[in-house]
Amino acid sequence: MRVVQLGVGSVGEVIARTLAAQGEVSEVVLVDVDEDRLRQVADRIPHGKASYRALDVRDADRLAAVVHGADVTVNALVPEFNLEVMQACLHARSHYLDLAAGGPRELLGTPDMDEQFALGDAFRERGVSALLFCGIDPGASDVFARALYDELDVVEELVVYDGDGGRVDGYEFATSFSPAVMVEECLLCPPERFEDGRFVTSEPLSVSGEFRFPDPVGPMRVWHIDHEEPALMARFLGDKGLRLASFYIGLADAWVELLRSWKRLGFAHKREIEFAGCRFRPFDLLVSRLPRSVDLVGKMHGSVCVGTLAVGRRDGVAVRRFMYQITSHDEAYRRLGVQGTGYQTGIPGACGALMLLRDQVGGPGVWACEQLDPGTFLALMGELGCPWGVVDLPAEG
Ligand SMILES: NC(=O)c1ccc[n+]([C@@H]2O[C@H](COP(=O)([O-])OP(=O)(O)OC[C@H]3O[C@@H](n4cnc5c(N)ncnc54)[C@H](O)[C@@H]3O)[C@@H](O)[C@H]2O)c1
Repeated sequence: MRVVQLGVGSVGEVIARTLAAQGEVSEVVLVDVDEDRLRQVADRIPHGKASYRALDVRDADRLAAVVHGADVTVNALVPEFNLEVMQACLHARSHYLDLAAGGPRELLGTPDMDEQFALGDAFRERGVSALLFCGIDPGASDVFARALYDELDVVEELVVYDGDGGRVDGYEFATSFSPAVMVEECLLCPPERFEDGRFVTSEPLSVSGEFRFPDPVGPMRVWHIDHEEPALMARFLGDKGLRLASFYIGLADAWVELLRSWKRLGFAHKREIEFAGCRFRPFDLLVSRLPRSVDLVGKMHGSVCVGTLAVGRRDGVAVRRFMYQITSHDEAYRRLGVQGTGYQTGIPGACGALMLLRDQVGGPGVWACEQLDPGTFLALMGELGCPWGVVDLPAEG
C-alpha cells in the first residue's frame, strides 16, 4: 500500500513513521514545503520505504501528480488546504484523512466542515473514503464520545477537556501544535457550544472553569474555546437526549493575558493592513513570532491529557464517565524523539489511516470519527502505543 503524507510537522512525522512501520505499507511519500524537514523525517524511516518531494501544495498540478497512485493521502497541513487536497484525492481515487477543520469561512477565509461533508456524494461516486478530523481532539475525543454514547441509555452532556500540564524549556510562550491554528481557535473564533437544542456562541476567552484531570496532570483552569467536537457530537450523537456538547482547554494565566493583549492591540483578525508601505496580515506577523511545534522537541516536559466526559444514565442510574488518553512529553521523546502532542495526535491519525486502508471506515463517502466502530479504533490506539483509560467521576460535580 502506498501512503502520501502531506505535511511533516510534528503530527505528520508521527503518522508517517507509524504507518511506515506497518507491514501492509510498502511506501510512504513525504511532501512538505520545507526540504530540510523532509530530509530529517525521511532519515527516520527505515527499510528504504520513504521518498520525499519538496513542494508547495498550492501548486495544484504538482499536488495532483504527487497524490496520483496513493492508496491513502494523509493531510497534516493546516486546514486551509483541506478542500484542495480532497479534490486531488477524488481525482486520484485515493482515500483521504485530515486532522482539523477550518472555518468559519466568513471569519477565517478557510473551508468549514460543512463544505467538506458536502463532498460525500462525490467520494461515494469515485468509490473512495474520507475520514475527517482524526487526531486526538478532534479524533480520539469523538471516538471516546461514541464509545460512551453506545454504553449509556441517556447521554445528556458530552464535553471534551484538553489539559497540558507540561512546561517548555527556553520559551515563555509556545503552542504544542500549529501556532496559527491554536491562535485561531483561542482568539479569533467565538467558541460555539451546543446547548438545549441550539448552538450558542460566546466571546473568545470569556468562559472558564476548573477541571481535575487524571494524574499526573491534575487540576487545571480550563477555557471554553472554538473546536470541532460540539458540532460533530450534536450532529452524530444527539439522539439520546443530548443537552450540552462543549470543549475546554487548559491555558496558563499568562498565555490568556497575552492573547487578550494581542486582541486589544488589534491582532485578532485575518485582514490585511498597510504599514510603512507594506501590506500584511497582523495575524501572520504574530504567529511568526511563536516557535514552531517541531522546535519544541526535547524541550517539553510533563504530560498532556485529552478526554471526553459523558453525563447520562444507564439502567436508570446517573453516570459521569471520563474516557481519556494521557501522553508524557518525556516518554514521547524517549520513544520516537518527538514531543507529546505530536505523538498523541499522530498515533490516532495513523489508526484512522490504517482503518481506511483496511476498509474499516464504512465504505465510500465522507465520514466523521463518531461514525467509526469505536472498538476497532480503540484497540488500534492501544496496539500502536497510545493507550486510553476510563474513570467514573462522582455523580455530582
Ligand atoms: N486533531 C488534533 O488532535 C490535532 C492536534 C494537533 C494538530 N492538529 C492539526 O494538525 C495539523 C498539523 O499540525 P502540526 O502541529 O504538525 O503543524 P506543523 O506546523 O508542525 O506542520 C505543518 C507542516 O505543513 C507544512 N506546510 C505548510 N504549508 C504548506 C504548503 N503550502 N505546502 C506544503 N507544506 C506546507 C509546514 O512546512 C509544516 O511542516 C494542523 O492542521 C493542526 O491544526 C490536530
